[in-house]
Amino acid sequence: MAERSFTIEDFPQARGGLPLLVRARDPRLDLLDAFAELEPLVRDWLPRCAGILFRGFALGSAGSSGAPSVERFRAFAAAFGHPLLSYEFGSTPRTNVTSGVYTSTEYPADQHIPLHNEQAYTRDWPMRIWFCCVQAAAVGGETPIADSRAIYRKIPADIRERFERRGLMYVRNYGNGLDVPWQKVFNTEDRAAVEAYCRDHRILCDWKEDGELRTRQICQATARHPVTGEAVWFNQAHLFHVSNLPEEARSALLDILDEEDLPRNVHHADGGPIDPADLAAIRAVLAEETVLFPWETGDVMMLDNMLAAHARTPFSGPRKVVVAMAEPHSAD
Ligand SMILES: [Fe+2]
Repeated sequence: MAERSFTIEDFPQARGGLPLLVRARDPRLDLLDAFAELEPLVRDWLPRCAGILFRGFALGSAGSSGAPSVERFRAFAAAFGHPLLSYEFGSTPRTNVTSGVYTSTEYPADQHIPLHNEQAYTRDWPMRIWFCCVQAAAVGGETPIADSRAIYRKIPADIRERFERRGLMYVRNYGNGLDVPWQKVFNTEDRAAVEAYCRDHRILCDWKEDGELRTRQICQATARHPVTGEAVWFNQAHLFHVSNLPEEARSALLDILDEEDLPRNVHHADGGPIDPADLAAIRAVLAEETVLFPWETGDVMMLDNMLAAHARTPFSGPRKVVVAMAEPHSAD
């Protein structure tokens, strides 16, 4: 049997096999050219390891040292056979780089984005997400990851039971200079189109007296992977809750706004507040399960978005990590 053109290695920082490291034997080997060889490996490994890091491949560049081509990255992600998704009902600003490929969030560089599964604050999410490091930051800017099955198992049973029983309701207020305008989140200027989207996606929407929009949506706290059947922690309560804001920003906002007008917040679906102690315990589990490693320019990481969560650390200097998503899935 011919030797494979890549190696499968244990990643030194991995936790429970996440991420699997797949490294090109020859830095001139293009990731897209290796697709036929890589595809069966992804099919076999991704449901187990939750995330794969492709390192040392060329991507439309002369070698692994050159800047990767975003267009080649798009083609690699699309080659898995599902159309790439647009970023609907997004939570942070992004720019469409090329059809189906976005900048990773334009959230301020000095702030930490906690671990999350993409779009777990809603009822429709992509099953697969790819990241490509076009330019690694000089300092920081990692994309930490974690296994959502391990998180589920480690969350104290009483908290898990409470979250599953009481559910979550995410509340968002758009615009007003405080958060992304609704026109950008819904990609339209047409209020009727927003209402139709919300109806289709079981999102409650209210136009407020000042013309701005509030949405509310009841969502899952945990979920079951449709293929592996495994239970995963699958929500963004720790991220949407007002306690995620730095103390100063939180009190400044609460000075001028009622709690229901906060740009984003979350409570239990029955209307009751989430116990801050529960959120603290959840954040502690997330911290314990975090896998952190530096990006190398040209890296491509592929995650099963239900099995693995991702985050972003603060950074300085230029950084460019682009993202593609595919295979929409909806809550039951
Ligand atoms: Fe994300």
